[in-house]
Amino acid sequence: MKHMLSLMDWTTEELRSLLALSAEIKADPLGRFDALTGKTLAMIFEKPSTRTRVSFEVAMNRLGGQAMFLSPNDMQLGRGETIEDTARVLSRYVDAIMARVFSHETVVQLSTGSVPVINGLSDALHPCQALADSLTLTERFGDVRGVELAYLGDGNNVCHSLINAAARLGIRLRVGTPAGYEPDPAIVAAAREAGADIALTTDPREAVVGAQAVYTDVWTSMGDEAEAAERVRVLEPFRVDATLFAFALPDAVFLHCLPAHRGDEVTAEVLDGPRSVVFDQAENRMHTEQALLLTLVDGG
Ligand code: CP
Ligand code: NVA
Repeated sequence: MKHMLSLMDWTTEELRSLLALSAEIKADPLGRFDALTGKTLAMIFEKPSTRTRVSFEVAMNRLGGQAMFLSPNDMQLGRGETIEDTARVLSRYVDAIMARVFSHETVVQLSTGSVPVINGLSDALHPCQALADSLTLTERFGDVRGVELAYLGDGNNVCHSLINAAARLGIRLRVGTPAGYEPDPAIVAAAREAGADIALTTDPREAVVGAQAVYTDVWTSMGDEAEAAERVRVLEPFRVDATLFAFALPDAVFLHCLPAHRGDEVTAEVLDGPRSVVFDQAENRMHTEQALLLTLVDGG
């Protein structure tokens, strides 16, 4: 059973096919309207979402299927039914499960059912975001392979999936984080083992110099709220403002997974500027997820 828990579960060829299918779908979004007729996607959200929830629901609709929003608090899951039992029961009803969870282990346990499971963000990874980002970079640069991308800020779930994209899709990644906020060394090591070109630094300028694309994410991820004040203090030098962005190439683009906090991790000038592609990234969530659903549920 194929899942999308991590980009590392997919080969380079599979991911490149997925991106090619995403571009085809983007050019003709209703071209496969009957592909998933009668099929249902269960969507479990332990955390809030705008893009993930809406893009997956619209993606299913555009394939002729349906998506169902499930809040754990309204399920027996919230009263102690095990994740494995939930997965087995849902597998009898639906054709795929997408879940946004606190612990990555939860999506792993959900994948013990008998339908494909998609990680819609865990504390460790956000593979669907990195897929949309890879399509966005492909559109801008002709190919995602070899693109010099600087990621600044917290070495979090979004950063980890970009590291995986570096391993599988050949993004050349420089990660700039404060000490103590580096990405998980095991994820970096596995990516390097798979041939990824990844540089780590605690100097934001060093990360950005000469980059073709500069990416940042919120300083306080969902679940980290108790550390918000400390994070603002430590991450402040990593704010992407016009001065820092100017160290990148003159035509470099700016990326952010959104939601953004103008004035914290990025200034309004950069986020709303002419080289920002953040709304292309958001749109591309839908096209890449449509391709992912087709591939997982219908075999492509
Ligand atoms: N980027 C992203 O996953 O956004 P949501 O939290 O709105 O789903
Ligand atoms: N790192 C952020 C991403 C939000 C889409 C979080 O986990 O909250």
